[in-house]
Amino acid sequence: MIISVVATRPNFIKMAPVIEQLKINKINNFFVHTGQHYDDNMSDYFFEDLMLPTPDHFMNIKSGSHAEQTAEVIVKFEKLCLKLKPKLIIVAGDVNSTLSCALAAVKLNIPIAHIESGLRSFDPKMPEEVNRILTDQISDLLFVTEKSAIKNLENENVPSDKIYFVGNCMIDSLIKNKLKIIENLAVKKYNLEQKDFCMVTLHRPSNVDNRNNLLKLVELLHQISKICEVVFPIHPRTKKMLSRFQINLSKDIKLLDPLSYFEFLKLVSNSKFVLTDSGGIQEETTYLGIQCITLRKNTERPITVQEGTNKVVGTDKENIIIEINNVLGSKISKEAKIKYWDGETSNRIFQILFD
Ligand code: UD1
Repeated sequence: MIISVVATRPNFIKMAPVIEQLKINKINNFFVHTGQHYDDNMSDYFFEDLMLPTPDHFMNIKSGSHAEQTAEVIVKFEKLCLKLKPKLIIVAGDVNSTLSCALAAVKLNIPIAHIESGLRSFDPKMPEEVNRILTDQISDLLFVTEKSAIKNLENENVPSDKIYFVGNCMIDSLIKNKLKIIENLAVKKYNLEQKDFCMVTLHRPSNVDNRNNLLKLVELLHQISKICEVVFPIHPRTKKMLSRFQINLSKDIKLLDPLSYFEFLKLVSNSKFVLTDSGGIQEETTYLGIQCITLRKNTERPITVQEGTNKVVGTDKENIIIEINNVLGSKISKEAKIKYWDGETSNRIFQILFD
């Protein structure tokens, strides 16, 4: 038996094609959801869209401080591993649950496969950066999405024979679901037909957990709403912080609950540009050829800047407005062709794990 783990929205998207490969090939896979994301619109709707099976085990950890969340998953996952004695665990990405499960497994001498290894923002203040570095140090099979990740791992003395350049599982999901995304009715549903609009997502602690930073970003959104329609599916963390800091959004912003996978990507595909502090959305926009303006000082995904449509602009309002005007004045970009972002990544991972 092996155990595969999901925890949050981006994990579901990355793991879905891998879970499918395991199922097709009749691998005895015990599927665990830690419950770090638990709302219908952060979790259940993704299971439906991505046709993920019902988890064999749901930990229901929900929220908490980093220590609480991380510790609770370690304790629960260790118990599960002691009971099931898996031959391998598969984790993805950089969230707290990823590191927790890897930590529990390594001390029981269970091999760890890490999907999306080696990405580095070089910003140790990002919780995800800590999770990435530590998970990679204790993993046995490190699956990377882009070449920069190989270099990062080698610089951290990870032996080369543990590193596999396989491509991007998130893009596997996108390619597999392309038709359903094209056919999705979200543009009509949200009254965006014939309109120039941008999509906004914000949830990084550095942007939303500090009142001043969040206020500045909200002022920016108000300014942008004078240029084009701003569609803002709001992350629960950001919603909570807006309310805590008593910051009000103008009615000119189209504020939505978090969208399903298909609805979100339909709107992104039809948008003029995307403003985001997410990691994965930088990759999806690159694949789709939609201009992405990343509201961070760095990116752990440099290929999206080099060969794609991503501009990492920080959070200075003037710079962002200049960039938006550049984007609005430029020609429509083309989908980037990045090595192994081809819909076959989960297949490559399967071959490496089980051949
Ligand atoms: C987490 C990941 C981040 C990832 C993001 C994707 C960590 C450290 N962070 O950040 O890397 O990019 O997910 O969204 O693991 N909440 C709800 N409902 C939910 C989920 C969360 O209300 O379904 C609330 C939580 O209670 C918490 C807040 O949102 O108060 C943040 O959730 P949390 O899991 O701590 O981190 P994210 O900001 O979502």
